[in-house]
Amino acid sequence: MAPGRVNLVGEHTDYNGGYVLPLAIDRAVVLAAARRDDGVLRIWSQQEDEPALSSIDELEAGSVKGWGAYVAGVAWAMRAVGARIGGADIVLSGNVPPGAGLASSAALECAATLALNDLYSVGMGPEERALLAHRAENDFVGVPCGVMDQMAASLGRAGHALFLDTRSLASEQVPLDLAAAGLALLVIDTGSGHALVEGEYADRRADCESAAYELGLAVLRDLRSEELEEALATLDDERVGRVRHVVTENGRVLEAVDLLRAQRFADVGPVLTASHASLRKDYAVSSPELDAAVDFALLAGALGARMTGAGLGGSAIALVEVGAAHDVTAAVTAAFAERGFGTPEIFPAVASDGAHRIG
Ligand code: GLA
Repeated sequence: MAPGRVNLVGEHTDYNGGYVLPLAIDRAVVLAAARRDDGVLRIWSQQEDEPALSSIDELEAGSVKGWGAYVAGVAWAMRAVGARIGGADIVLSGNVPPGAGLASSAALECAATLALNDLYSVGMGPEERALLAHRAENDFVGVPCGVMDQMAASLGRAGHALFLDTRSLASEQVPLDLAAAGLALLVIDTGSGHALVEGEYADRRADCESAAYELGLAVLRDLRSEELEEALATLDDERVGRVRHVVTENGRVLEAVDLLRAQRFADVGPVLTASHASLRKDYAVSSPELDAAVDFALLAGALGARMTGAGLGGSAIALVEVGAAHDVTAAVTAAFAERGFGTPEIFPAVASDGAHRIG
C-alpha cells in the first residue's frame, strides 16, 4: 500500500529546489501483485471494467495512456535503471480520491514500485523508490511535477510531517501528534477540478525557471529574502508574484518546522493562512471553491486554512480544535450550497506511514 498526502505548507517550492512539509495521510492505494513469466503487465482496477495490458519489453515513454501509465511507467523506469524485472498481475483498490489534489498518482506509483521491487527482489530502499516513481511520472507519464508527492508517499511516518529539502533531499521527521494537542487537520475536497491544471502547472514552472535564469540563479531557492525586493524590481509583473511566492513560502516552511519542533501546533495555523493568501494572489493557483473553503473554515473558527497540492481545484486543509470540526464542516458545506458549488467531502486526515507491505 502507499498513501496519499496533504502538504502542510511549502506549495510549488519543490521544483524550485525549496522546502516542503507534507504528511502521508490515512487514505491509500492498496494493491495485490503476483509475478508473471511472460513479460506482460496486467493491471486490474476495481474502478475500471477492463484491465490495462502492456508488454514490458515494448514500453516507451508515453506508450501507455490513462491510469495504467502510472504502473507501466514504474516498470519502464525500473528497466531504465537496469533492474531485472518481469511481468506482473496487479489488482488495485484504494480510497485516495483521484483529481482531489491528494497525490493519488504518486500513491499508485509508489505502491507499484514497492510491489515490483519486492516481487523481483530489486533491493531499493524508500528514498530510491520515491525517486524512481518520480522519474516514471516525469519521463514516462510526462507530468513535470516535483518530488514532494512521491517522497511523502514513500517516506511518510505516522504522527509526523516530513520536512524535506528538495534540493539536497535531506529530510527530517517532525512531530505532528495533533490529537494529543486536541487538534485535527480537516481535508476539504472541493470536488472541483480544472481541465487546464496540467498546462497551468507547467506554465508556473516555466515562469519560475525563466525568472531564475534572468536573475542568474540555478533555482529560485537560491534567492535570499533579503535580496527579494531588489530582484523583483527587475522582473515583469507576472513573475514578480511567482518569485515572491516561492521565496516567502520557503520561509513559511522553516517557520512551521520550528513551531512543530516546539510542539506549538496551534501556532502553525496563521502560517497556513498566510500561505493561502500568497498562493491566491501571487501564485494565482487558487479557485473560487478553494477560497470559499478557506474563508468559511476560518470564519467558523479554524486556526488556519489553505489550499493543498497544485491548486486550481482539488482540496484545502483546515487546522481546527477538535471541538470546532463540526462547525467548520457545517459552515463550509453551507457556503458551498449557497454558491451552487458541489457538495464538498470533508474528512480528518491523520499523519500515517508511507508505502509498506501489508500482506
Ligand atoms: C503537485 C506536484 C508536486 C508539487 C505540488 C505543488 O502535487 O506533483 O510536485 O509541485 O503540485 O506544491
